[in-house]
Amino acid sequence: MTIKTATINGVATLEIARPEKKNAFTSAMYQAMADALLAAAAEPSVRAVLITGQPGIFTSGNDIEDFMSRPPQDADAPVFQFMRALVDCDKPVIAAVTGAAIGIGTTMLLHCDFVYVSDEARLAMPFVSLGLVPEFASSLLVGQLMGHAKASEKLLLGDPFTGADAVECGIANAVLPAAEVLNHARRVAERFNTLPPSAVRESKRLMRAGQRELVQKTIQAELEIFGPRLRSPEAIEAFQAFFQKRAPDFSKFN
Ligand code: COA
Repeated sequence: MTIKTATINGVATLEIARPEKKNAFTSAMYQAMADALLAAAAEPSVRAVLITGQPGIFTSGNDIEDFMSRPPQDADAPVFQFMRALVDCDKPVIAAVTGAAIGIGTTMLLHCDFVYVSDEARLAMPFVSLGLVPEFASSLLVGQLMGHAKASEKLLLGDPFTGADAVECGIANAVLPAAEVLNHARRVAERFNTLPPSAVRESKRLMRAGQRELVQKTIQAELEIFGPRLRSPEAIEAFQAFFQKRAPDFSKFN
């Protein structure tokens, strides 16, 4: 089982658990995440959702082999179902980033409400180095959070950054020792047991309403480019280089 779910004391926990592949997401895992998020949103006893990974790894992002063999075809693909469920979730979502958070591992944090990062975590959005483009409104939200200059480092160069940088940039709330990040995130999630649930949901909706349409439009625009790019020669070179454990060579492209 690569996504473990449990609901304890009002908190639905979604645990990414595929450590042998650094928690890389397959289509089946996205589907499990989507189903669990929708179930949590519909279950009245759930007051908050907690997303976490394994010690030392949150997720290495999309499974690159899956990208090559089963690229997401349309807006019904499991990855879109997952991200739609996350973007639309009106209950608080708390992320405990237990280690590296790459690609969608960082993108998903932009749509969470609270993000706690372990002091070992490294975040990165290396879409361009994979021949791809930003996804799920990261082309909009990263610049809004940290300004264009820092967003260019993260999105165009794909520079990795630390948990402390993530806090400084406004992506994360706090950096904690690795052994404490999950418990801290859980304690924050459990605070929603003592708050009025519909006031929380309405407030979250209002906080997101201002640019909801722009976020949706950006996701759609990114999708129209991301899909074809998955089959582009640049992306294929990057994917093959990853599995051949070599640096990609983009010198022949223009
Ligand atoms: N897709 C598919 N397989 C992946 C993966 C991914 N995103 N990330 C890691 N793996 C696999 C590796 O191929 C390796 O498999 P193997 O043992 O069969 O060779 C295994 O997981 C362990 O990964 P490895 O790279 O040896 O671990 P590491 O500790 O040296 O590095 C990462 C960890 C996360 C930094 C590194 O795996 C990485 O950069 N992964 C790719 C990240 C990425 O580009 N994601 C896509 C974003 S869109």
